[in-house]
Amino acid sequence: MKNSIIVIDFGSQYNQLIARRVRDFGVYAEVFPCTSSLNEILALEPAGIILSGGPSSVLSKDAYTISQEIFELGIPVLGICYGMQLTAHLAGGKVVKGKQGEYGKTLFEITHHCELFEGVPAVSTVWMSHFDEVIEIPEDFLICGKSQSEIAAFYHPKKKIYAVQFHPEVSHTEFGEQILKNFVLNICQCEKNWELKNFIEYQIQEIRDKVGDKKVILGLSGGVDSSVASVLLQKAIANQLTCIFVDTGLLRLNEAELVMKTYAENFDIQVIKVDARNRFLDKLAGITDPEQKRKIIGHEFIEVFNEEASKIENASFLAQGTIYPDVIESQSVKGPSATIKSHHNVGGLPEDMHLELVEPLRELFKDEVRKVGIELGIPAEMVYRHPFPGPGLGIRILGEVTPEKVEILQKADAIFIQELRNSGLYEQVSQAFVVLLPVKSVGVMGDERTYEYTAVVRSADTIDFMSATWSRLPYDFLEKVSSRIINEVQGINRVAYDISSKPPATIEWE
Ligand code: XMP
Repeated sequence: MKNSIIVIDFGSQYNQLIARRVRDFGVYAEVFPCTSSLNEILALEPAGIILSGGPSSVLSKDAYTISQEIFELGIPVLGICYGMQLTAHLAGGKVVKGKQGEYGKTLFEITHHCELFEGVPAVSTVWMSHFDEVIEIPEDFLICGKSQSEIAAFYHPKKKIYAVQFHPEVSHTEFGEQILKNFVLNICQCEKNWELKNFIEYQIQEIRDKVGDKKVILGLSGGVDSSVASVLLQKAIANQLTCIFVDTGLLRLNEAELVMKTYAENFDIQVIKVDARNRFLDKLAGITDPEQKRKIIGHEFIEVFNEEASKIENASFLAQGTIYPDVIESQSVKGPSATIKSHHNVGGLPEDMHLELVEPLRELFKDEVRKVGIELGIPAEMVYRHPFPGPGLGIRILGEVTPEKVEILQKADAIFIQELRNSGLYEQVSQAFVVLLPVKSVGVMGDERTYEYTAVVRSADTIDFMSATWSRLPYDFLEKVSSRIINEVQGINRVAYDISSKPPATIEWE
């Protein structure tokens, strides 16, 4: 796609964020692993290339690198953090191990006027996260910015190669948006032609061309991605689409009914609901290990789905709600093992199904999927739902999963979510749920001593789900949730609030 920006991924947790920021300007951006060949990169005819940050050191033997030719293509390049150090290293400058590095908010001073900093004040706050430092810039380059005593930005006035030590993509960098805008819109001169309306029209035509008059099956989870994919497919191929919704018994309270009702009321889409609750719960009896539970649930899901799908005659395609972060994570330089979710959505097609994949949302970030959803007329309540993991309550009931515990957790979780919605907090947090611990403690109800389970209320704030902080929910709100759960849910007599950030904790408990 002409007019696009390519972000080369050197393993930074912010690489997706860079691409998202660029798309926010109306310019298409894609993330490529640093192991991509120049031909692969050039095939997209990029108007500019951004080298992302990354955790390694250019000084180490097995450091991630890129062909030096990237600087000779005549395409503007912006190196960020590791990308700056790599630019210096490859172009003949000098990078050394720093003494203490720079982390967090730092003052940045523009020391020489450069078009990258158009509209940025002489001194501003930037976000730093690096250990190595550039102490000599390559020949013919000019230093254009410093932080305290260090070189924090340099550029090549003729070749349009720019490098900054800080992260313009994170919101803590005061003028980061302006700097990225200068690069994308002024220096690369990209046109603003990435619009989701065009995307919808284009995808509908793509789906029609690909599918023809064949039938398509889609696994509906009730989540945003598969819902948006199903509606987009319906618009393209109408009743050639059949959705399969598996009730695993590990869903939220009344979730299965809610999904079926929403579809019946809003869309003309054929949805087959499979009640597999007993199958899942039977298979999980006696199992306590989280990974084993995940495997059993995943395996059972595929079995149930296959059984149902094989009843649909002449189905040739399997549609999935794979979104861009799933694609990036599974191709990341860190490899799929560095991520948790990749295997759920990417490449999970059972070989014996002989179906071809249709993934209409493969290019979109979550917030773009949501915008497409709204554009397609999907109710906002559905579009803005928090993510829900494939193994569902199976990994939120710690230890063995039993029907009794599922019932207890569903009730407690429903109270928390209802209260979040009632207080207008639901959309302010990224993911919220309740966890049931296999721990009993003593309490008192009326004049009776109780000995019941402990529930943990968890709410996380995050942009990319790779790192997260716990939500600062108001005390009064937490008190209300706690007292409602203890009073209304038999089986729970104690509620705790999880105040762990990720890392080192994770969002889910298993
Ligand atoms: P963690 O717990 O790793 O979760 O901080 C990050 C995000 O991934 C979701 N998650 C999963 N999603 N299958 C899924 O489909 C899983 O096994 C799984 N484990 C975690 C989690 O809900 C959060 O959004």
